[in-house]
Formats: sequence, C-alpha cells, structure tokens
Amino acid sequence: MINLGTESQAFARGGNRLCFFDPSDSKRCIKVLRPDRDPLTKRAQRGFPRNLKPLRYFDDNREEFLVYQQIEKSIGESAFELIPRGFGFVDTNYGRGLVSEIITDSDDKISISLKQYVWIQGVTDELNSALDRFKRRWSELGMPSRNLLLHNIVVQQDSGVIKRLVVIDGLGWSDLFPLAYWIPSIARKKAKRKVGRLPESINELIEKKTLGKDWGYHGWLDDSKREVPPN
Ligand SMILES: Nc1ncnc2c1ncn2[C@@H]1O[C@H](COP(=O)(O)OP(=O)(O)O)[C@@H](O)[C@H]1O
Ligand SMILES: [Mg+2]
Repeated sequence: MINLGTESQAFARGGNRLCFFDPSDSKRCIKVLRPDRDPLTKRAQRGFPRNLKPLRYFDDNREEFLVYQQIEKSIGESAFELIPRGFGFVDTNYGRGLVSEIITDSDDKISISLKQYVWIQGVTDELNSALDRFKRRWSELGMPSRNLLLHNIVVQQDSGVIKRLVVIDGLGWSDLFPLAYWIPSIARKKAKRKVGRLPESINELIEKKTLGKDWGYHGWLDDSKREVPPN
C-alpha cells in the first residue's frame, strides 16, 4: 500500500478528490476520494431519482476509469492530445487511488487551470487561438464530457506560450443512455455544444473579477504547490 501522507501534502484539492504526487514517479499523480466526500455522503446529497443509483456510481475514480476505457475503445490514441494519460489503480492510505499523468509546463511546474489563467491574464489573442484549436479538436473527436468547467481544464505552456489545453476532470457523457459512445455523429454534435459554452463561462469569470467578487473555491494552484518534487 502506498502511503500518501496527510491531506495537506496533496498538491491540489478538488470538489471531490485530493491529488498527490506518485511517490514512485513524480510525473504522475494519484487521485483519491476526499474522505469527507465518500460515495455514501455524496449519494445522500442527491435528489430523486439519482439517489437510487448503486453506491459505485458515486465513486468519481471508478467512473473516470470506466470513461477512460470507453475513450480508448471509441476514440483511441488521438484523445490523449486533449486529456492526460491514465495508468489504472493503486492501493493507498485513502483507499483506491487513480494514477494519471501530471500536465506540466516546460519549466516542469504543474500547469495552472484555465480558470486561473483567465483570472491572471484575461483573454488574450493567444488564448483565443488556443481555445479555437481546442474547440475544433474536441468536437472533431467527439470527446465525452459533462459541462466543461474552467477549473477542470489546464493550460500547458512552453516558455510562457500556450501549447495546448488539457481536460483533467469531468469526462464522460452524463446521459442515462449515452448513445454518443456508439454513434460518432451524436458525439461530435454534443462535444461541439459543450465547447460552445466555454466563451460564456470565461466571460462570466471575467465579469466576476471585474465586479471585485471572490475567486471561489477550486482550481487555484499556489506557486509553491506547482513545484514537482524530485523523483
Ligand atoms: N493531471 C493533472 N495535471 C495537472 N493538474 C491537475 C491534474 N489533475 C488535477 N489537477 C489539478 O488539481 C485540481 C483538482 O483535480 P480534479 O481532478 O479536478 O479533482 P476533483 O475531481 O475533486 O474535481 C484541478 O483543478 C487541477 O488544478
Ligand atoms: Mg475537478
């Protein structure tokens, strides 16, 4: 079993999971369910009829792993232009952890989220062209996702220049009968709709900042947390 240490040693904390460096390979992270967001607690917070689903559906790691298998089958290698590589499960002191590639910049620091990038830089021409490339490819491949949230996309930079946008969370169709996994034309249409909502989310974030409102909870990586430890 891998001991990941205390919660404060996680480099990031999302709404559901803690992200730790993999002690055996710092290019990889291990995501575990937050102890206060276990499947029982999460199910209890859902309304009818979703709260009738078996407990395993409330395990984000399990769900993400299944989506990765589906993506490999239905989309294949090209998908990894847009999402991190996944390496399966390991046992940890927080239960089953899901191992995946950490997205880093050319200075080897962890890439920041699109939310953080926009908060700091606003919308630049460079960001717009990266967004256009991302949106085109995401739709072409018909990538499966829930609504794309700005803190679930990271901006990978090469010497300060945006290389690509990578979706690190929120994958998978949420429909009860996700036909899009088997019918590519439906997948492409749905994926296009999801990326089409990004400009609106970005505008809302900018408006929030302009009005002097709070950043919110998730997706901010302090510079000290972006440092990847030596292997
Ligand atoms: N593979 C990754 N590479 C770089 N940063 C990541 C990666 N996975 C997660 N992060 C960072 O950690 C935060 C939380 O991770 P996430 O998987 O979104 O957790 P949750 O499922 O709880 O929302 C993200 O907002 C992002 O900043
Ligand atoms: Mg997240």
